[in-house]
Amino acid sequence: MAGVRKIAVLGAGNIGGTLAQRLAESDLANDVVLIDIIDGLPQGKALDIQESAPVIGFSTRMTGSTDLAAVAGADIVVETAGLARKPGMSRSDLLEKNAAIVGGHAEAVRLHAPQAVVIVVTNPVDVMTYWFRARSRLPAAHVFGESGTLDTARFRWFVAEALRVAPRDVTGFVLGTHGDTMVPILSLTSVAGVPLGRLLPADKIAAIVERTKKGGGEIVELLKMGSAYYAPSATQAELVRAVALNERRLLPVTANLDGEYGLKDLCLGVPVILGRSGVERIVEVELSPDESTAFRASADAVRSDLQILAALPTAPGVR
Ligand code: LAC
Repeated sequence: MAGVRKIAVLGAGNIGGTLAQRLAESDLANDVVLIDIIDGLPQGKALDIQESAPVIGFSTRMTGSTDLAAVAGADIVVETAGLARKPGMSRSDLLEKNAAIVGGHAEAVRLHAPQAVVIVVTNPVDVMTYWFRARSRLPAAHVFGESGTLDTARFRWFVAEALRVAPRDVTGFVLGTHGDTMVPILSLTSVAGVPLGRLLPADKIAAIVERTKKGGGEIVELLKMGSAYYAPSATQAELVRAVALNERRLLPVTANLDGEYGLKDLCLGVPVILGRSGVERIVEVELSPDESTAFRASADAVRSDLQILAALPTAPGVR
């Protein structure tokens, strides 16, 4: 049974297309609309996914459109549009171009789907989440970004691989920014409740932390012409499901902070309870002194990107 009536996916690139397929196959909505500026791309991918319905057995109705007004009535919007990294680029290098795209989309959502819960995945995601919220003027809880769920999935896999255990038994949190200063929280990482420190030596854990921080870049270097999309779309679908089915999952997302963790006026990866109203609650966990320092460095990195954004002529009103 469908969780919500309509989900709109903005951007029909590798992430948007793969996510649309995952959403269709999960029957989370009656309608999934894929929207992109390139005529034929969203319509073609939507029809292609739709034609798999008799074989896969889903009931989702897929459509594609080049018209942003097609977000109308969406309960959930996923913003995937924008440029992806090429080898040698940081996520921040995408800032100016992606801010222009995301800003326009935020205004369309304000106009046509002000009731929507919005999940932003465009990079640099911590800044784009802030920007989407500022331009859409949607309630803070209704706009959040995907970062920690993806970084945590990578971290969990590397731990599972090192220990040769079932990946789903590894739980943990990667907080802070979706960038080199992200913060895997080792004190909250366990395998079926057994603390990681009792299972792996410190040097192996340190190597996994380093690999996690560069996890997105590792894929970019391998693919050479774009960034990851299988793991990202899987974790985005996990977030959509949590909202659509009001699961109240405890997951790390890029949330609007208003005093939590001693921070205000920025979006950063923190644990939240995720349900039908988006971020239902921000959960403040105790961090070790080292983790706190790393978390603050993460916040500083996002603030400096926000300052670059504020200086752009297309970004009035950003602090
Ligand atoms: C990554 C990109 C999508 O981490 O940010 O793969």
